[in-house]
Amino acid sequence: MCGIVGYIGDKKAQPILLNALGKLEYRGYDSCGIAIANKSIEVYKDVGRVKALAKILEPHNGKVGIGHTRWATHGEPSKINAHPHSDCAGKIAVVHNGTINNFSRLREMLAEEGHVLASETDTEVIPHLIEKYYDGDFEKAVEMAVGEIDGAYTMIAIMAGESRLIAARKDSPLIIGVGDRENLIASDVPALLDYTSRVIYLEDGDIAVVSASDVKVKQNGAVIDREVHEISWSMEDAQKGGYEHFMLKEIHEQPKVIRDTLTDYLSKAETAADLTGMGGGSLENIIILACGTSYHAGLVGKYIIEDLVNVPVRVEMADEFSLSGQSPAGNQAIVITQSGETLDVLKAIKRLKANGNRVIAVTNVVGSSVTRAADRTIYTRAGPEICVAATKTFVAQLIALYWLALPYARVNAARLDELVLELRQLPVKVQQVLDNEAEIAAYAKKLAAYDNVFYIGKGINYPIAMEGALKLKEISYIHAEGYAAGELKHGPFSLLGEKTPVVAVVTQDNTYEPIVTSIKEIKARHSPVIVLANEDDDVMPDLADSVITIPRVDPLFSPVVNITALQLLAYFVAKERGCPIDFPRNLAKTVTVE
Ligand code: G6P
Repeated sequence: MCGIVGYIGDKKAQPILLNALGKLEYRGYDSCGIAIANKSIEVYKDVGRVKALAKILEPHNGKVGIGHTRWATHGEPSKINAHPHSDCAGKIAVVHNGTINNFSRLREMLAEEGHVLASETDTEVIPHLIEKYYDGDFEKAVEMAVGEIDGAYTMIAIMAGESRLIAARKDSPLIIGVGDRENLIASDVPALLDYTSRVIYLEDGDIAVVSASDVKVKQNGAVIDREVHEISWSMEDAQKGGYEHFMLKEIHEQPKVIRDTLTDYLSKAETAADLTGMGGGSLENIIILACGTSYHAGLVGKYIIEDLVNVPVRVEMADEFSLSGQSPAGNQAIVITQSGETLDVLKAIKRLKANGNRVIAVTNVVGSSVTRAADRTIYTRAGPEICVAATKTFVAQLIALYWLALPYARVNAARLDELVLELRQLPVKVQQVLDNEAEIAAYAKKLAAYDNVFYIGKGINYPIAMEGALKLKEISYIHAEGYAAGELKHGPFSLLGEKTPVVAVVTQDNTYEPIVTSIKEIKARHSPVIVLANEDDDVMPDLADSVITIPRVDPLFSPVVNITALQLLAYFVAKERGCPIDFPRNLAKTVTVE
């Protein structure tokens, strides 16, 4: 992971780099640093967050610089391992995002040639390689250094006395912000938006030479044109807007996100009949691949598609997919990734395409790597999501999956009309859950006192139990596991008792009766039970210890309202425990490493 940024222009680089790094911290935040180039290079770096770095900086007038916020891969978070890294003479500085596979060999080679490398990082070989190849031509030296590296090497280099940033992109995103008498380079758009809304998305293999007034992009040694895109969302979209945390703001945006995503998909489909014309083609075997929260969306997708379309759906974690002996051939694959940059997903796509599968990508990030790797992209319209724990992008992914399945639904016209109507009403239903926030916060206060929590659900809400548990452990550091309700008795029952609460998703569908039985069994083992139940449920108030009321929706759409309640529950538990909600320890939002 890691976030990188570069600035060159007519302003002082230091405050701009710090501001941009703050916007990139979701990518990693165990240490950070900046380097400013003048006639010499000044490097400032330390463990901890960007705000702490700002306090130790000496003001610098230099107008060319680079910055980095780190998620450690090679070597623990420490000042010496923090970026930027430099060459022996201290004339070159590099920030890097990715992992270099052949760095041990390169280190040995450089050491034999007399280079002294101080850190444990793979990155440090890059400035030394540039130094090795430098014969007066900075650009050529970077190109030659890049030619030696095997692995992911998205990076930006600066050199003392040079008025150029030289960047290379391989396997992690890198975007140039085209300004007026200034240009920037960063891992993600929010870092650029305070300065410009005009961006160029670099592609794998690109080398960019950027001065204050010019951007040159080369691919395989030849200068090429890369389109300049206008970003339609503003910095305001990427700010907290009065909420205490991005996570709470992003959960509250969910009604709008559903509306925006649906407007995009359904604007021309006033009736269900219109819908059937939108997808086209036939659907046979489907495979869904994703990681983390997106994987949970994929699991919900299996229930949606199997229920509506009646075709078998295989869902796998993208990181495990490459290990399975047989790769499917000739299938329809759907990959889901909010960032569009998850390395395991990109690798899975390569394998899928090599075997002749058609790949649809569902992503939230325009121009992300997945959009180039897949045959077709369906965008979710969640806007920028800053909190590391995914919330609104997950809900938007579910909406995308409903939309993908509906045109193929093997249901009669009346049922299809009903489903489309329900889909359109979802924002209102999600708002009702949000309006119930105070009640959920009160239950969260109680839950915050425990160290272990089970989440259970059945059918389409089993993955919602998994996602609810993931949210809790990500941000509150409470150990939580999501289980299919019926599985709890096959082992986890030995852990039940007064100190192990169970959160059960019991909104009504054909799984209601068996889950009621499960709750009775759990209660007999003295575990406190919090349920998510429909407002008209008259069984749960007597059976459960606490009931979070959920508006009734068609069971197919219940994951959307249920997860909203579980996200709020996790949020308020983490708040009660005083956790750094938006930036949980050890995590990162965009995972571009294995
Ligand atoms: C990281 C994020 C998760 C996300 C997962 C997959 O672990 O912290 O929130 O679900 O990556 O990311 P993707 O961008 O592929 O959805």
